[in-house]
Amino acid sequence: MACRICGAHTRSILDLGESPPANALLSTPETEPRSFPLVLELCDDCGNLQLRDCLDAEDLYRDYLYVTPDSQLLRHHYEQLHAHLAEGDYIRPDSFVLEVGSNVGMLLRFLQSRTRKVLGIDPAANICKLAQDAGIETMCDFFAPASAERIRAQHGAPDLIVARHCMAHNADPHVMIAAAAALLDDTGHLVIENAYGLNTVENNELDQIYHEHMFYFTIRSMRALLAKHGMHLASVLMSPVHGGSVVFVAKKTRPTDVPDASVALYAEREDRLMKGATYERFAANVRELKEQLRALVGDLNAEHKSVWTYGATAKGNTLLNYVGFTRDDIEYCVDSTPLKQGKFLPKSGIRVVSEEHALENPPDYFLLTAWNYKDEIIGKVRAAGNNRSRFIIPVPHVHIV
Ligand code: TMP
Repeated sequence: MACRICGAHTRSILDLGESPPANALLSTPETEPRSFPLVLELCDDCGNLQLRDCLDAEDLYRDYLYVTPDSQLLRHHYEQLHAHLAEGDYIRPDSFVLEVGSNVGMLLRFLQSRTRKVLGIDPAANICKLAQDAGIETMCDFFAPASAERIRAQHGAPDLIVARHCMAHNADPHVMIAAAAALLDDTGHLVIENAYGLNTVENNELDQIYHEHMFYFTIRSMRALLAKHGMHLASVLMSPVHGGSVVFVAKKTRPTDVPDASVALYAEREDRLMKGATYERFAANVRELKEQLRALVGDLNAEHKSVWTYGATAKGNTLLNYVGFTRDDIEYCVDSTPLKQGKFLPKSGIRVVSEEHALENPPDYFLLTAWNYKDEIIGKVRAAGNNRSRFIIPVPHVHIV
């Protein structure tokens, strides 16, 4: 296939078989929803890691169930992100901040009192309504050159555009960058936060691979993408969100620009660690992880131990379907999101129940499919009085805590 950043030839490095769209929870425990291949490809020319088969964005996002959880980890991350942006003078009390893929407006609610003006743009109508009800002005649209033009006409140029965990969500990454380049003035900045490709590969995070994640950005591939739009990296920040994310701060290239030392520092580390052998090891570890998880849950079931999953996450659905688990192996999935409760995980057919339900009937084991909130969830479960359930953590290696 062709690299969707630079056009060079790509090669496949991991095949996870077929899976349904990972956030498409079902109203019935149907086990044969439409499934599509999950194949990860590498472009040796620009370092781009991309999904071979991309689904249509309209199908994926118009009616969306993902709601940013109100989490301690995220609240702490917003503080850190704001501190980093203030330190670099990318955000100021008089800034106008536009958030792309703003979901229910959690970050903008945090930034509202710290900036002059906030605005969200998100394509999911049901989610935009929730944001608006919470007092965050939100345009219901995809971020593209046409919607960017309307934003400029109605609100002026933002000082900062933030795109958290959505830049990889469209088959053509040039659309959003072109829209940002058109909307920003020379002094404006674009912040892109995403699961970091290096972490995905190094930590065997096969479950980051699902249809919404069409790219696994690295500094190398992000630089290649930005360069095509006259932009470059001003700084890079690493964050613990989603098991290890990268925050890219980009701007339009001007001759006087001096990038922060973090860019060269992390780029060197990446060049050292991301080699051909890294990808081969990743694929081998992923296959081994599948066998280990299958054997562990099989043994627990044979001993009549109950196993549930914790977190009706997109990650979890990739993992469950890749391993081949169904509700015969795993009885319930626990999740705090009311929109997800009472629904069924696609293909595995596992029913989603509330955290309260899990407290009343604690299982012997939770397979922690929201492992990125490990400390927070385990702390919460213990504090609520459940000292019985043990936790199976799937990555980087299957282990029990
Ligand atoms: P995410 O990893 O995509 O943000 O999804 C996390 C999911 O985990 C989300 O559906 C909410 C759920 N969750 C809980 O059920 N309990 C919790 O304490 C936390 C932090 C998340």
